[in-house]
Amino acid sequence: MLTWMDSLRGRSLMRLASFTDEEMMSLVDLAAQLKARRRAGVRGDLLRRRNIALIFEKSSTRTRNSSIIAARDEGGGAEYLTRPDIHFGKKESVKDTARVLGRIYDGILFRGFSQQTCEELAKWSGVPVWNGLTDDYHPTQILADLLTVKETFGSLDDCTVAYVGDGRNNVANSLMMGCAKAGVRYVCCTPKALWPDEAVLAEAEAVAARNGVDIRVFDDPVKGVRGANVLYTDVWVSMGEEAKTAERIAMLRPYQINMDLMRATGNMDGRLMFLHCLPAFHDFNTEVTKESGALEVTDEVFESKYSKVFDESENRMHTIKALFVSALCDRASL
Ligand code: CP
Ligand code: NVA
Repeated sequence: MLTWMDSLRGRSLMRLASFTDEEMMSLVDLAAQLKARRRAGVRGDLLRRRNIALIFEKSSTRTRNSSIIAARDEGGGAEYLTRPDIHFGKKESVKDTARVLGRIYDGILFRGFSQQTCEELAKWSGVPVWNGLTDDYHPTQILADLLTVKETFGSLDDCTVAYVGDGRNNVANSLMMGCAKAGVRYVCCTPKALWPDEAVLAEAEAVAARNGVDIRVFDDPVKGVRGANVLYTDVWVSMGEEAKTAERIAMLRPYQINMDLMRATGNMDGRLMFLHCLPAFHDFNTEVTKESGALEVTDEVFESKYSKVFDESENRMHTIKALFVSALCDRASL
């Protein structure tokens, strides 16, 4: 018997602050149940006759495929729509597109640039809208991250997550709030120029204080990671920021996660894992890294026993499925 909070029905996810702490953890727990159910070979019909529009302005491997398979696994459908495919924001306003798609689909997952666009879709479509990454937030990623930490360590108790890299990007913003809501200590190691936005930090600090944990920001990664149980990083240049590539690489080189930084946690023989939302520049096998070599993480760490990045990546599917199911499944009709 799957369980989740009834209050999640019909709900949109703009950012993690859209949910109470209990609702967020209910989604993580539902994802664990759905994962076990899939492992047991069950393909159910929790999303029977439910159709989801996937509007993508930016590239995606995990979010796109997780959404399609999450819907399909439970008897639903998902349609992938990129900007050139539809009139979205060019010949037709976001508001009109929202009202059209809301009459056809049961939910919309949006990946794009502006957080405001995501919020406008939610305002006008009349169906749940899920933020699959904007310039400001990446909330569905963090649901998968929390599930990964919880299933690897057995609980989120007494845990410190240290994020090392661009401290004010979408993943860092959402991770900071996700940790605060889950009662996990959060440390951000980033150069002063990339410290978290003051308002985003203040909002997360208030939540963290309520849950008895703190948030700390360091520009020295070696000091910052001391005692951490999770070292987390993301690309140094997010989608849409390509013009800043050279500047970011120069600024963030000292923030690479390598074995020395893993050792600086002091936890090599205890609870320690490496996470990355992916894609990652860890080797010489991409167009970007064939000349520069590894950027935000070395191959040695990426391929080590500490790395849980493929569990994390798989968990994108189970957590996105939890979002779809909790919002759209009418348990009474099953
Ligand atoms: N982590 C993540 O969102 O990956 P994609 O860009 O491949 O969706
Ligand atoms: N910060 C990255 C995350 C990719 C999943 C980006 O926005 O490109």
